[in-house]
Amino acid sequence: MQEHFADEYVKMAQAQGYRSRAVFKLKEIQDKDQLIKPGMNIIDLGAAPGGWSQFARPIVGKKNKIIALDILPMEPLEGVDFIQGDFREQAVLDQLYAVLDGVPVNLVMSDMAPNMSGNKGVDQPSAIYLGELALETAKTVLTKDGVFLVKLFHGAGFEAFFKEVQQSFAKVAIRKPKASRPRSNEVYILAKGFK
Ligand SMILES: C[S@@+](CC[C@H](N)C(=O)[O-])C[C@H]1O[C@@H](n2cnc3c(N)ncnc32)[C@H](O)[C@@H]1O
Repeated sequence: MQEHFADEYVKMAQAQGYRSRAVFKLKEIQDKDQLIKPGMNIIDLGAAPGGWSQFARPIVGKKNKIIALDILPMEPLEGVDFIQGDFREQAVLDQLYAVLDGVPVNLVMSDMAPNMSGNKGVDQPSAIYLGELALETAKTVLTKDGVFLVKLFHGAGFEAFFKEVQQSFAKVAIRKPKASRPRSNEVYILAKGFK
């Protein structure tokens, strides 16, 4: 908690009216890679408390769709459709497709992370599994040239997952934003140009 309150990104998030410090990870990737563009429809997985959707909303424009999903509740955000449910459940995925209603998706971003038990043998496969599910969804809904951003953790299964992403996208890179704590092995895979 001490570290949390002292964290400069937590203070910046509070000062700028953002719901999470995680917003600065997306902002940094956005500044470098311009993944969010006006006119995009976006799916935001693991969205609560809503920082990423909050950041993306003014960029995409009023006519476009942002669908946010999380297992936890989220305070409503204007112009963002929210689905509460466990992304691992087929019923929740079906709900996502129903809300999407055939709208072409340009960006799938996932900041989902499982509840960490501290046991790498359990946590890493859980994180890879969420990444796999996000990738499957991205492959189902993205338009040609669509973008996929996913949080993962270095460790068992990471390389194989990275290669799997490379098969479906033209350009794949790893990003480690400054706002991501250096001692965490969390990274983001940014994949552009869905084939
Ligand atoms: C780091 S937080 C996301 C922060 C968010 N990007 C923001 O800026 O506010 C990770 C989120 O993933 C969600 N999550 C973890 N497992 C999930 C699952 N199986 N289904 C849906 N959401 C999940 C957690 O509830 C948590 O809110």
